[in-house]
Parts: sequence; structure tokens; C-alpha cells
Amino acid sequence: IAVRVGAATADTAPDLWGLFIEDLNDALDGGLNAELIRNGDFEFDPSERNDFHHLTGWATEGPVQVRTGSPLHPNNRHYASLIGPAAIANSGWYGISVTKGKRLRLSLFARVTEQTRLAVTLGNGLASTDLDVEPGGWHYLEADLAPTATGCGELRIAVPAGADADLDAVTLRPLADDGSPLTFRPDLLQALKDLAPSFIRFPGGCLAHGYGLGNIYHWKDTIGPRWRRAQTRNIWAYHQSRQIGYGEYFELCEALGATAIPIVAAGVCCQNSPGGQHAIPESQMKDYIQDVLDLIEFANGGPETRWGAKRAEHGHPEPYGLRYLGLGNEDEITDAFRNRYARIEDAVREAHPEITVIGTSGPCTTGPDFEAGWQYARERGVAMVDEHGYQNPRWLHQNLDRYAAYDPDGPKVYLGEYAGCSSTVRSALAEAAYMIGLERNPDVVRLASYAPLLARVGHSQWTPDLIYFTADEVRLTASYYVQRAFGTERGERVRAVELEGVVPWTRPVAGTGEAHVHSPRATVAFSDVVFDGRPVPDYATVPGIDGAVLAAIGPDAADIEFTAVRRDGSDGFSLRLGPDDPSSSVKFNFCMGGNRNTVVFRRDDGI
Ligand code: AHR
Repeated sequence: IAVRVGAATADTAPDLWGLFIEDLNDALDGGLNAELIRNGDFEFDPSERNDFHHLTGWATEGPVQVRTGSPLHPNNRHYASLIGPAAIANSGWYGISVTKGKRLRLSLFARVTEQTRLAVTLGNGLASTDLDVEPGGWHYLEADLAPTATGCGELRIAVPAGADADLDAVTLRPLADDGSPLTFRPDLLQALKDLAPSFIRFPGGCLAHGYGLGNIYHWKDTIGPRWRRAQTRNIWAYHQSRQIGYGEYFELCEALGATAIPIVAAGVCCQNSPGGQHAIPESQMKDYIQDVLDLIEFANGGPETRWGAKRAEHGHPEPYGLRYLGLGNEDEITDAFRNRYARIEDAVREAHPEITVIGTSGPCTTGPDFEAGWQYARERGVAMVDEHGYQNPRWLHQNLDRYAAYDPDGPKVYLGEYAGCSSTVRSALAEAAYMIGLERNPDVVRLASYAPLLARVGHSQWTPDLIYFTADEVRLTASYYVQRAFGTERGERVRAVELEGVVPWTRPVAGTGEAHVHSPRATVAFSDVVFDGRPVPDYATVPGIDGAVLAAIGPDAADIEFTAVRRDGSDGFSLRLGPDDPSSSVKFNFCMGGNRNTVVFRRDDGI
């Protein structure tokens, strides 16, 4: 095979490779968040998930109650009330792992009626300290613990006999070399840094637009002292402490040398919420739009501005240099969406023409909803559109030229979420091929981020993920190495490459295949698929956790028939592609859409 490299045709997109972080799969609390105490604020609530309660994560000894009278803060209403002798012990995220000599900062708020000495121990003799509390309201207390051995255990706080204590906002964080408590877990932070991302999109995903109107992620709830932040359930059905909030996200971007891409809801919540998509009521829209403008001021405003001053107060006087703002995530393109989106975007365009607003292509990678998203974006002249695509490797290989067909004069593309959904190495190779397709169309594709990024082993709510971790281990996937190669070894120019002597992969095929659909959720197994009289083993099994395309057959396809039957032989379906429509293709998209559990059989023309 001869490879001929031609002249440069364009520069590559400078910010192309970045990260997308969402609190899904226990990615933040118990993950990137360096905090070791789970539910230190006693705010886990049964309304979030029925196995949660205010003492989730805590074991109790003696009389311990959860109370709300005269709380530490209205956003942090619950606290533990102990009448000695009594104790509470937190086991963190499945055990608190510590290393000999690596100091930790313990802090908490306590309220007592008489001077009291709290006895704090970590694990079975790993570390201990005493905290003296004066009476008279809530007191902030802190102490450093220096583990004398490496091990795993609980943090136990005991109140002596005859005393009583209210405890809240208990935290335990490893210390950095300069003695300050860490915000991010160092090994995970390093894994992200090694990807050399140009940008970070946050906080979601679906998490940004929320499960119902009350669950929309409002950035103002996530700044300021951690114990004052409004905590809530996240859309992935667990508790989010918001200890990594907007301030920390900006801090993370800075630590990684990445530009921030915050995503705010486009005035509507997720369409998968109970009762479907809801729009922020008219009476609240003015305030909501102002919140979005305030976010830009928080990021970029000078210290003389209200929100710029807040940023300075939070320890960052210099502006963050925000350039992008995402508006919406996979939203269904309804009239309510159009109405809210347009008003928010207009307000941002008018007040901040320097900010590129990124719209959304809606919930799918193809099909009518996707077309509606794009049509709306084109009509409005949206600068950039966030597309998502979780596909199997075959689809990625078959769509390498997807973006060559896009109008370079239309809205630009941010491929905000994508992954090849199959076994790791096969997916990683397909992703690499697809990424070259993104890279060689810089007039269309400006940004791209793999998703999801992080998953705690055993807590994956969406697969595959880029980085898996346990309490003390980081497991990198084959896809991670692909992302790292593209992030660190950036091409600067796009050049035409011609290959001589390569036989095209696609060719006319004909035959009969059988698809056994034995579980609409997990696996689609194809057997006995024959093209051109020869068996095609490739089609035999597709472990299609998140999708499988059986075949996309080009314009030369002749008389093709597929029959699909369930394992038990019931409820089969068959699709026939007649010879009379030469432009047709057959695609079976088993599009599981994560938690949506839907199966879509998309039929193109001529079937
Ligand atoms: O990455 C997981 C989810 O996939 C995101 O929250 C959402 O945008 C998409 O459906």
C-alpha cells in the first residue's frame, strides 16, 4: 500500500479535545471530590432515594438522634444530636483508606451545653485526637490527624458520659504538601491532567437540566462555604453534596489549563422527568435569565462587579476568562424549549457578544428529534451545536465521514458526548478512527469530549466509562489511552492522504440473516448471517449494551431479507429490502439510551 501525503488543507481546531464531567457513577462524591466522609452534613434524605436516611454512612452507639432545631444553616438543616456516652462513626465510601504519615484535616461544627471533650479516632488505632468544645452556639473545630499506619477504617466521634453534643458538617480531607486540605483526589486529578484537555464541560449532561423543575442545577446553590450549599438528589438518583460546585469546577479548569464550558438548563428540565419536560414558569424567567448573566459575571467580571467580587471573596480575584456557555442538554425541541432558549440566548448575545453560546441538537444522533434540533439551530443562527453519539464500533467506522457532509457555513459542532459501546479495545480503535474524522473537519467540528468520564468500580450507571476507580486505585481503559494520545500529540494541520492499493471495504452484499433478540436491555445476538453465500462471523454476537447496528448496506444492495426472532421463537419481526429501491439501507439500531431502556428499530427508505 502506498501512502501519499498531500498539502495542508486547513489548521486543526485549536480546542478540539476536552473533557466532560458529570456527577454520575459516583464520579464526584466518593470520587474526584477528595472528601473522605460520606454524608458529613446529615442531609441524605429518603425523598432522594428510599434507602437513604439522614444517618446514611453513619453507625451509632448510644442515644443519637437527627434534629433540625436551630440548624447550622437553613441549607444544612439536619444534624446529629448525641447524649453521652454516645458516638457516631462514618465509614466513608465503603471504608476510609489512609496512608501512614499522610496527614488529614478533620473539621466539624459542634454545639454543646457545657464544655465538652470529643474523642476522635480513625480506624483501629490509625490516628486519634481530642476536640474541646465551648458552650454557646455552633463552633467550628479542626484538627489534623497523622495516621501511624496504612489502613482502612471508620472515623468515630465520641461524646463522654454526662455530656451532650450536636454535630454537623463533619469533613476529613487529605492535606496537600503545603498543608492545605485537598479539593480533588490527587490520582484522579493526575489522570485527568495527563489527558491534556483544552476544555472541561460541566456539570452535565442530564444533571444540568435536572429531573423536574426543582432539580435544575442552579450554579448559585453551589458556591460559598461547603456547609452552606444547597444539597439535593441528582438526576442519577443519588445525593450530591455539591462540594464540587461552580467555584471548584473553575478551579479544576485552571489546574488543568483547560477552558471552562459550563452548561446551564435552557429554561426546561429533562423530558424524562415525571410528567415530561416542564418549562420554568414565566414569572421566574426574568430571574433565571439574570442568573445566567450573573454566571458570566462571576467568571469574567472585575472585582467592582457584584459577582466578580463574590469570586474574589472565594479566593480568585482574577477573572476565569470564560469563552463558552452551553445552553441546554439533549432537550426535546418543543415550543416551550424554543421560547425559553431564544430568550436566554438573546440576553447573553446582547450582554456578552464575546461568549459563544452552544445549543443542543436534541436527544438523538440521528432521526426526527435530531433534525428538529438542527433545524432550530440553523434558523436561529446558533453558533455551535452540542451533538451526542453513543454508538457501537461498527457505526463509528461506517460514519467516519459524517462531518464532511455538514455545511461548513452552518452552526459549528461540539460533539459533547461520544463513545464506542462495545468491548474496550474494539471501541477504542473505532473511537480513534472516528476522532480522525472529527479532526479532519475543523471547519465543522470545533470541540469534542468522550463520555462518561469517571466511574467508581461497582457503581457504574452507564457503560463504558473512560476511567474506573476504587478507593485507592485508578484503572485506565483502552479508550483513555486513545484520548490521551490525541490530547497530548495534537496535529496542527489537516493534510489530504491518499492510499493506493487498498480494496474498499464496502461491496455489494446479499443474503439472509437472523437476529435473536433475547433481551431488549442487554444483548443482541445475531446468528447464521450469510452474505454472498458466506457466513459473516462478525455479525454473530454483538454485546450491545448500548446499541448495535446490524448492517448498513450501500446503494448496490440487491434483495436482502433479515428475519429476527426472539430466543423463544416468539414475536419475530422481519425486514425486507427490495431490489426496487437501490438507495435504501437496512439499519437495526438497538439504541438503549442508558436508563431509558428503549429499543428503536429505525427503518430507512425502502424497507
Ligand atoms: O453521559 C451520560 C448521559 O448521556 C448524559 O447525562 C446525557 O447528556 C446523555 O444522555
